[in-house]
Amino acid sequence: LDELRTRARAVLAQNDKGTMVTAAPNLYPHQWSWDAAFVATGLSTVGVPRALAELDHLLAAQWDSGMIPHIVFADEVQLRGAGLRGAGYFPGVDRWRTERASPAGVKSSGICQPPVHATLVRRIVERATSRGGEDGRLAEDFARRTLPQWIRWHEWMRRARASDRSGLVTIYHGWESGMDNSPRFDGPYSRVHPGDLEPFVRTDTRIVEDASQRPSDEEYARYLWLVQQMADVRFDDARLPGAVDFQVKDVFMSAAFAAANEDLAVLAERFGHSDEVTRLREWSAEFREGVDAAVDPATGLARDRDLLTGEWISLPTIAGFAPLLSTADPALRAAQLVLIEGPEWAGDPRLAFPLPPSTSTTSPLLRPREYWRGPVWPVMTWYIAEAMRRHGDGGRYARWREASIAQLMEGHFGEYYEPFTGEPLGSYHQSWTAAVALEWLD
Ligand code: DGY
Repeated sequence: LDELRTRARAVLAQNDKGTMVTAAPNLYPHQWSWDAAFVATGLSTVGVPRALAELDHLLAAQWDSGMIPHIVFADEVQLRGAGLRGAGYFPGVDRWRTERASPAGVKSSGICQPPVHATLVRRIVERATSRGGEDGRLAEDFARRTLPQWIRWHEWMRRARASDRSGLVTIYHGWESGMDNSPRFDGPYSRVHPGDLEPFVRTDTRIVEDASQRPSDEEYARYLWLVQQMADVRFDDARLPGAVDFQVKDVFMSAAFAAANEDLAVLAERFGHSDEVTRLREWSAEFREGVDAAVDPATGLARDRDLLTGEWISLPTIAGFAPLLSTADPALRAAQLVLIEGPEWAGDPRLAFPLPPSTSTTSPLLRPREYWRGPVWPVMTWYIAEAMRRHGDGGRYARWREASIAQLMEGHFGEYYEPFTGEPLGSYHQSWTAAVALEWLD
């Protein structure tokens, strides 16, 4: 285990470009929003100041609206110094056309990612303050100083993406969910028909040479069409509903938001923003209820909803376990725990490790090597296990930890893993996978 810890630290050190840790060395040579939050918590096991700097770098890219963009593009000079080429990532900042909307001097994309940040900030602050000393003081100062920014981020999410009070967050791109090509989005994407699309050349399939581990070209054309539609209205929140061919209520993101509002309330109470606590707890309840109400009584899994057709999307993906992040209903929690450890998920005896894959092992939709269509994602394993631990389920956390460490022992820190063989796939030396290893071993 000491060796795993040493190697995980080395991955983060290698991907550290000084002010930001790239999400992965070649495939993702920039800072991604939810990656950065997971990376920061991993970094905090090694050194609190560096962990806080990672979050400061992300916060510096926050838009006036309050949105935190899903990619903060690295400085080319810095990348070149590290022997990397940011231009190797597509779509780069030019394609996003965000120069008017981003803060001065910041290069960013124009969409968001799951709001896991407050949950992980709370974890970092609690870790640092329990240790006391200089780290504790730094973390407290950070919390006091940045709370208004995290609150603005949540305000934006509620206002721009959930003003209908459904307790469910709207996304305008599968990339916003973080689960880009999950089968959950196949229906909505089937209704996205790229029109006059600017030509493009992908770079991801040059880096991950086995293209079958990545989304298809057809999927990419749709992804870029949506970027073009949003850029055409300058990512103006008010104009997106009239402009974009993909509009989905994302149940997993909503559950992450419910949990994060509670965590932000705890931080606000402790660090001098007690006037915000009531509002944050109201939001937490609103989204908790929205997620609970999205559960399909027939399957026990939570559903997304296609806003453009009004249909619920009832498919067996990992997002169906959203209530494990947020619910306060003991019967729903118990039923979900039985499911996730049952024979269609982590309890399938054919699995290399008893961990939930991104699509049910018994579903015809499962593609065990293809990105979010089947592989096991270590970051998901940890995020869900951590939610269990917070709900007092230390026993289950310990079991998942053991299985996840066994999976990571092969040492590549894969982006995702083939569920039946345990083969690492996608990018190697993925920062958030290394961060998760450090969390397990802390
Ligand atoms: C990618 O480039 O694959 C990312 O997931 C988009 O955010």
